[in-house]
Amino acid sequence: MKIGIDKIGFYTPHLYLDMNKLAVSRDIDPGKFTIGIGQEKMAVPPVTQDPVTLAANAAYEILDEADKEQIDFVIFGTESGIDSSKSAAVYVHELLGINPNARAIEVKQACYGATAAIQMAKGHIALNPESKVLVLGSDIARYGLNTSGEATQGAGAVALVICADPGIMALEDKSAYMTADVMDFWRPVYSDKAFVNGKLSNEQYIAFFADVWEQFKQKSGLDLKDFEAITFHLPYTKMGKKALKPVLEDAPEDVQERLKANYQISTGYNRNVGNIYTGSLYLSLLSLLEQKEDLKPGTRIGLFSYGSGAVGEFFTGILQSNYRDYLKTENHNKMFASRKEVTVPEYEAIFEETLPTNGSTVKLDTDADPAVICLAGISENMRQYVNKLK
Ligand code: HMG
Repeated sequence: MKIGIDKIGFYTPHLYLDMNKLAVSRDIDPGKFTIGIGQEKMAVPPVTQDPVTLAANAAYEILDEADKEQIDFVIFGTESGIDSSKSAAVYVHELLGINPNARAIEVKQACYGATAAIQMAKGHIALNPESKVLVLGSDIARYGLNTSGEATQGAGAVALVICADPGIMALEDKSAYMTADVMDFWRPVYSDKAFVNGKLSNEQYIAFFADVWEQFKQKSGLDLKDFEAITFHLPYTKMGKKALKPVLEDAPEDVQERLKANYQISTGYNRNVGNIYTGSLYLSLLSLLEQKEDLKPGTRIGLFSYGSGAVGEFFTGILQSNYRDYLKTENHNKMFASRKEVTVPEYEAIFEETLPTNGSTVKLDTDADPAVICLAGISENMRQYVNKLK
């Protein structure tokens, strides 16, 4: 039985910051951000968007009534969760009106969360071929104003429907993974910003990719020539390139050229959104599928997932015959085209506008946010959400 990705939804907030302008205001050569880091625009989440609403908006785009009936498992991967007890999946389940006879949970391992969710979903579908699983990867990446990580922030969510006989991509069985206790990036519960050892995080990412790729080759008997493209978790778009470069060295020239060209295409959306942590790898996959129109059904795509701390995994999928019919390319083009630029002072003010942590009540202006699903406020320590179309 084929099991894999049937639909992919994506949402990013309606505001963005131009990286050239951020660089100038920080007294940095813009080339460092646009070429050295590889980012053009950074999504800026208004206070009315949190990981729950981002995920719900991404899923809202793709779910039809039949999906809502058939989904019996919602798995939410996030590392910027809003509650230490209640899962973000329960809120999305309610906001979208999914079948009540469903499981709903949250999983965490930095940017690896959504990949763990997909692997869990595969197992669930293998045992229950009639059901569908909704996998969500949703985050707001915050390092802080004027920090070295500032240029690698972002916000957004990806929603994936996993089921049997999928429309977009069948996931193959062989997979290689590893875990090692590394303090490269972490966020203690008392902080709303991440702590990071930037240099160590880059080194570990590259080392993890080299390791799981070697493991995968041995397990599968496949080599680079068997891949049309390899997509990466992209904290910034230069990162995957750094990991791919040493691995490509021994490949034939034509294979190197193909993988390099397709890598570039797979960075398209991420370059204009920034790091969305758990959803980042799947945003890169979406960039490739939606922006390279001549990708042939039957070809194999590699996926490298990395979550600091750290867990890494390399797995693969085969594009299905009518995969283009399942994509929402036009929606995403419109979403990018309708975004509004904010100035650096506006971005800084939005960054500092955080929710109260002292139990006080707050009511937010959801009319200022064009998203269908918004955070409307907090009352008695409970977040109040609104689906404007429900
Ligand atoms: P930095 O140390 O300020 O940057 O921060 P740098 O000095 O290393 O420069 C970056 C690149 O720009 C260099 O290129 C420079 O040469 C180049 P490289 O040597 O790397 O190829 N450069 C220029 N290029 C063109 N024109 C110029 C120019 N000037 C310099 N004028 C860093 C960079 C990424 C470390 C920082 O932003 C950071 O700490 N970010 C957060 C951590 C991160 O994203 N790590 C990535 C791997 S870990 C990961 O992916 C997991 C994560 O998503 C979290 C999770 O799993 O939950 C982060």
